[in-house]
Amino acid sequence: MQNHKRPPASLIFIFGGSGDLNFRKLSPALYNLAIDNWMPEKFGIIGIGRSKYNDEDYRKRLYEGIQQFSRRKGEGNGQWDEFSQHVSYLQMDAEKGEEYQKIADVVKKKEEEFGIHPNVIFYLSVAPQLMPDIAQKLGGLNLCSDTRTTRIVIEKPFGHDLKSAHELNELLMGMFKEEQIYRIDHYLGKESVQNILSLRFANALFEPIWNRNYIEYVQITAAETVGVEGRGGYYEQSGALRDMVQNHILQLMCMIAMEAPVSFDANEIRNKKVDVLHAIRKIAKEDVNHYAVRGQYAEGWMKGQKVPGYKQEKSVNPSSAVETFAAVKFYIDNWRWQDIPFYVRTGKRMNQKTTNITIQFKTAPSYAFPPEAADTWRANRLTISIQPEMEVRLRFQAKRPGQSMNLDPVDMVFSSESAHEPEAYETLLLDVMEGNPTLFMRADQVEAAWKIVMPILETWESRPPVDFPNYTPDAWGPEDAEALIARDGHNWITMPPAQ
Ligand code: BG6
Repeated sequence: MQNHKRPPASLIFIFGGSGDLNFRKLSPALYNLAIDNWMPEKFGIIGIGRSKYNDEDYRKRLYEGIQQFSRRKGEGNGQWDEFSQHVSYLQMDAEKGEEYQKIADVVKKKEEEFGIHPNVIFYLSVAPQLMPDIAQKLGGLNLCSDTRTTRIVIEKPFGHDLKSAHELNELLMGMFKEEQIYRIDHYLGKESVQNILSLRFANALFEPIWNRNYIEYVQITAAETVGVEGRGGYYEQSGALRDMVQNHILQLMCMIAMEAPVSFDANEIRNKKVDVLHAIRKIAKEDVNHYAVRGQYAEGWMKGQKVPGYKQEKSVNPSSAVETFAAVKFYIDNWRWQDIPFYVRTGKRMNQKTTNITIQFKTAPSYAFPPEAADTWRANRLTISIQPEMEVRLRFQAKRPGQSMNLDPVDMVFSSESAHEPEAYETLLLDVMEGNPTLFMRADQVEAAWKIVMPILETWESRPPVDFPNYTPDAWGPEDAEALIARDGHNWITMPPAQ
C-alpha cells in the first residue's frame, strides 16, 4: 500500500523448499523480482527440506518451475544464472530441534559475506500440522528475538477452525511480536484486488452511492475449472468453505464493504477491514440451510475431456462428504450495509476460471419514459473482474439511435493487460522484505473470519450431505445454489468468457 523501495539485504529460508508452492509460485516470484531489480543488492534464498539435493540439482529443479510457471522465462539472457547464484539448499529434518543450529550457522556465514546483518525471513510453506512445531523451534533461535529484522511468513491454511487458529496465534505470539508475523492470503497481493481500493477511494463517483440506499446487492464469484489437482489429501481436511471462503472471499468482501481509511497505514487499513468482519451477521446453526449451500462435483466432462468426480480423485475418501462448492448469503449489520445481501460462491470444476465482484445498484425510476423504453430497462451494475483479466465494467442505459425513445443497456469497460502485472506473490514477498504488513492478515482478522464460518462448518459436519455428488463439471454448481439467490428474486451473474 505504499511505493516500494529496494529492500535491505535479506535471507529467505523456505521451509517446504522442495514443495509445490515454492516450485510454482515462490521461486518464480523471487526470480521476477530480481529481473525487475526489486531484490536487495545482497540476498540469499535457502530452500529447506528433507529430500536430498546439492545446490546445483536444487537450482535445476527450480529452473524447471521457472520454465513452467514464471511469467518470464529469461531464456538465454543470463538472468537465471545470475539469480541462481543466490539460491542454495539446506537439507534438514525440521522435526529435530538440534538441526536448527544449521540455520543459525548459515545466517552467521552470510552476515560475514554481506558485511551487514540481513533481514532473516522464515517462510513456512509446510503442511498445517507441522507449523506449530517449526515455529516453536525457530522461536528458540536467538536471532528470532530481533524483532526488527527477523520475520516469519505463514502460508494458509491458518488453522483448521477457530480453536486451532487461536492456538496457533497464541503460540506464534509467544515466540514473535505481531509485527514479525506475516500471515499470507495471496488474494490480497493481486493487483486487481488492490485496485478495488483505488476504484473506491480515488474517485468521487462511487463512494457517495456505495451504500444501502443505492445498492441492491453484492455478488462475489470465485470459480475454478480445475478439480483438486492432486491435492486430495489436503482438500479432504479442508473443503471449499475453509479453502476459499474463510480467507480469500471474506477478504474481498472486506475490500468492498470497508469504510474509507484515514491513511494507508497498515493498521489503519486492517482496522477498517476487521470492522467489516465484526459486523457480519452470525448465522444461527438452525438457519444455516437458508444461508449456505454446499456441493460436490460428480464425474463428467470438462470442455470435451472426461474428468473424475471428487470421490474418485487421488487420496480422497470414496465416500467423502467434503464440499468442493460453497455458496453463502451474508449480511453486514452496520449503517452502510444493513439488509443488503452479499451473495458469495466458489467451486472447483466450474464452467469458467473467473473471480469477479458485482455491485448491483437499485433500479432508477422509469415512469417518465414511454412504456416501451421500460422493456429493456436495467439497473446500473458495476462488475470488478479480478481474474483472469483485471476489468472494471460499468453498465448503464443509453438511448438507441433513432427517432423513438428506446433504451439499451451498454457497458463501459476498463481492462488491463495482466501479462505485465506482478503476480500476487511478487508483491507479497517484496512487502515482507521491506517490512510492510498491510496486505497480510493480523491475528484478530484471521480469528474474526473463522468466527463467521464456524456455524456453517459445524452444521455441515454434524449433518452429512444426502445428495453428494450434486453438480456436474463444467456448470455453475448445484441447483440449490440457484435457489438460494432465486428466493430473493435475483440470479447469479455470469460474466462473458474472456476473449
Ligand atoms: C488457494 C486454494 O488458496 O487458492 C486453492 O488453496 C485454489 O484450492 C487457489 O485453487 C486459487 O487461487 P487463484 O489465485 O488461482 O484464484
